[in-house]
Amino acid sequence: MESPTIKSFKLRGTRITAAQIEARDRLWSIFGVAYTSQVLDFSEVFTDRKKIIAEIGFGMGEATIDIARTMPEVGFLAIDVHQPGIGKLLSRIEETGVKNVRVMDEDAHLILGRMVKDQSLDGVHLFFPDPWPKTRHHKRRIVNADFIELLARKLKIGATVHIATDWVPYATWIEERFATSRVFKGGVVARPSWRPLTRFEGQGITKQHQVTDFSYEKL
Ligand SMILES: C[S@@+](CC[C@H](N)C(=O)[O-])C[C@H]1O[C@@H](n2cnc3c(N)ncnc32)[C@H](O)[C@@H]1O
Repeated sequence: MESPTIKSFKLRGTRITAAQIEARDRLWSIFGVAYTSQVLDFSEVFTDRKKIIAEIGFGMGEATIDIARTMPEVGFLAIDVHQPGIGKLLSRIEETGVKNVRVMDEDAHLILGRMVKDQSLDGVHLFFPDPWPKTRHHKRRIVNADFIELLARKLKIGATVHIATDWVPYATWIEERFATSRVFKGGVVARPSWRPLTRFEGQGITKQHQVTDFSYEKL
C-alpha cells in the first residue's frame, strides 16, 4: 500500500538539538537503513538475528533500546520520521553498544508496503501511537482497516502485534478495528514486563491516563 495522503504524523517544528543533528549526521551511515524501492534483505541488515520486529513510531527510542537489550536474538527495525528522535536513538545505539537495532526514517506505510517482504515479520510494536483526539482528525489515526490489512500481509503466521495506548477512546477504537479483522485474534492484555515505562507514558500516567495494552496474533 502506498503512503496514505492523510498522514498519521505531524512533523513538529525544528526543535532538534545540536547533539541530535550531530548524531544523525555521523551515525546514520552506520545504524540507519535508507528508504529505497528495493525489498530489504533482513539477513543483510541484521546478521545472526533469527527474528525481526518492526517498531512503528519509536519517538525518542527509549523503549526500543531497553527492549532490544532484553531480546538480543531479535533484530529491531525502528521506524519514525521525527528527526530529534532519530538523532537520539542513533546516539543511544552508539552509547549502549546494542547490536540489534537499525533505524529507518520514512512513513511506516511506505517502508512496510515497499521494503518489507510479505510474511517476513515476527512482530510489530506500536507504542502510544498519536491518538488524534479530535473527531475531525480521527482519519489520521494509524490504526485503521488498511493498516491492519498491511500488517496482516507483512507478518508471519503466529506473529504478534503489540499496541499500547493511554487514550481510552483510542483503545476502544483499536479494539473495534481489530474485531472486524478475520486475520487477527487477541485483545486487551496485562502490561507485559518487557515493555518499559517511557517518559511519554509517565507523563500520561501523571495526568491520570489509563494505559491499555493489546496483543493480536496473526492467524
Ligand atoms: C505519540 S508518539 C509515541 C512515541 C513512542 N512510541 C513513545 O511511546 O514514547 C508517536 C510517534 O509515532 C510517529 N509516527 C506516527 N505515524 C507514523 C508513520 N506513519 N510512520 C512512522 N512514524 C510515525 C510519530 O512521528 C511519533 O514520533
